[in-house]
Amino acid sequence: MAHLSKVKHSSGDWRRVKSDAVAVGIYEDLKISRQFQGVNRELGRGLTNALAANMLKGKESEVKIVVGKKGALAFVFGLGKKGELNPETLRKAGGGVAKACVANKVKSVCFILPVDGKEAYMSQAVAEGLILGSYQFNEFKTTDEDLFEMETATVVGGNQNAVKKGVAIANGVCLARDLDNRPGNVATPTHLAENAQAIGKSGAMKVTVFDREKFTKMGMGALAGVASGTKVPPKFILMEYWGGKKSAKPIVLVGKGLTFDSGGISIKPASRMDEMKYDMCGSGVVLGVMKVIAALSPKMNIVGIIPSTENMSGDKAYRPGDILKAYNGKTIEILNTDAEGRLILADGLSYATKHYDPKYILDFATLTGAVVVALGHVATGIMGTDAELIKNIKASSVKTGEKVWEFPLWVEFLKQVKSKIADVKNLGASGQAGSIAGGAFLKTFVGDDIPWCHFDIAGTAWGDKDLPYLNKGTATGEVIRLVVDLIGI
Ligand code: BES
Ligand code: MN
Ligand code: ZN
Repeated sequence: MAHLSKVKHSSGDWRRVKSDAVAVGIYEDLKISRQFQGVNRELGRGLTNALAANMLKGKESEVKIVVGKKGALAFVFGLGKKGELNPETLRKAGGGVAKACVANKVKSVCFILPVDGKEAYMSQAVAEGLILGSYQFNEFKTTDEDLFEMETATVVGGNQNAVKKGVAIANGVCLARDLDNRPGNVATPTHLAENAQAIGKSGAMKVTVFDREKFTKMGMGALAGVASGTKVPPKFILMEYWGGKKSAKPIVLVGKGLTFDSGGISIKPASRMDEMKYDMCGSGVVLGVMKVIAALSPKMNIVGIIPSTENMSGDKAYRPGDILKAYNGKTIEILNTDAEGRLILADGLSYATKHYDPKYILDFATLTGAVVVALGHVATGIMGTDAELIKNIKASSVKTGEKVWEFPLWVEFLKQVKSKIADVKNLGASGQAGSIAGGAFLKTFVGDDIPWCHFDIAGTAWGDKDLPYLNKGTATGEVIRLVVDLIGI
């Protein structure tokens, strides 16, 4: 596993913790956090020298290595302005320290939390940062002699349970990153189903997988249509966790598991088509959250649904002009086989509304290139049917630092996905509001009665966001932290 999977906690004296380095915070006023009292002689001189040389600025995201006597090592991380310390600064500090450990081949670190135990979320954020920052995707490297992995990290101070929660969440995010980063020939629908089964086993969940023959017979004509161009077996994956009261309505999570999107007959240009291995990141969110559920066994009911296939142009592939019938009986006119995500989600959402009485439904999908035009790699586009749910999502977004921005689902946009010859079409108005057209289409398969929100993560699931607890240009596992906070584990 190319990341830390455990973070220890200690409430004792940091000098008692066995580790190869200590990590300590410094504010912009260049005062070392007071939790680092009694600095030992080896490091004291190193720190004084670094300060005298003007090396340390205390800025957020800054991590500097300081060498004391006899090779004693300290990583000094910036805390920003005093009085403005927040969890995101500490998440970045944890990430930066872990990255510095990997870069300098330091096996273990003792991270001194610069705050007291009262604010649990600060402790959680550090644990998240340490694990996420240690993450590397190197499972396909066979000759790189420079590979190095951290072994342990210990958080000194703060709240032990919050550290445990942060560890569980970050491990869920790392699982999602692994699945997302794997290429289409490895992370196939079968691979996703196997991962769902493994998570289910570890967390008392019921996992059911429908194969092509079964889901076609059941009436999932939209998923079957998209899957018709590939011989790689498609899957419809269901994960059910009934940890709450029987009377409690389940929260349903639906994730786009498109393991490679060539565009199908409406084929994509060659340039950057490799990035379409990431088109299953929506399913990564669902599997990541379910892994967190398995680790923490909360008292709640939650269902994960993953329609999964490739989108290819084999001889049986679906065509522009075809009409498909979704699981809820609605007919869909296909105008572009590259707008396939909304089709497989149509069956996932229909299944959720038919078989459960959801408290609410969330879906996650790398659905449109248009969301990258609108929000770049900075924020996830969201849209939905329920003001209260959206309000809570925005609150969790602010708390977890995973940005979202709401788009409107006005009736004008719903009209744009109506078809002349079928119930709906899989495109909106040409060249207009592409991300909203995707959401408007999906709404047809949820209806008005169930609170629902669609997350278009095409810009945030991977890309060039620059953060110490991320590896630029690879999968992020974004919105898992937000969702775990929202569902209230
Ligand atoms: N998987 C893509 C969306 C995408 C594009 C994600 C680029 C990340 C980067 C999706 O299936 C797709 O192809 N969408 C089309 C929709 C269009 C045909 C209406 C798009 O965005 O171009
Ligand atoms: Mn597509
Ligand atoms: Zn796609």
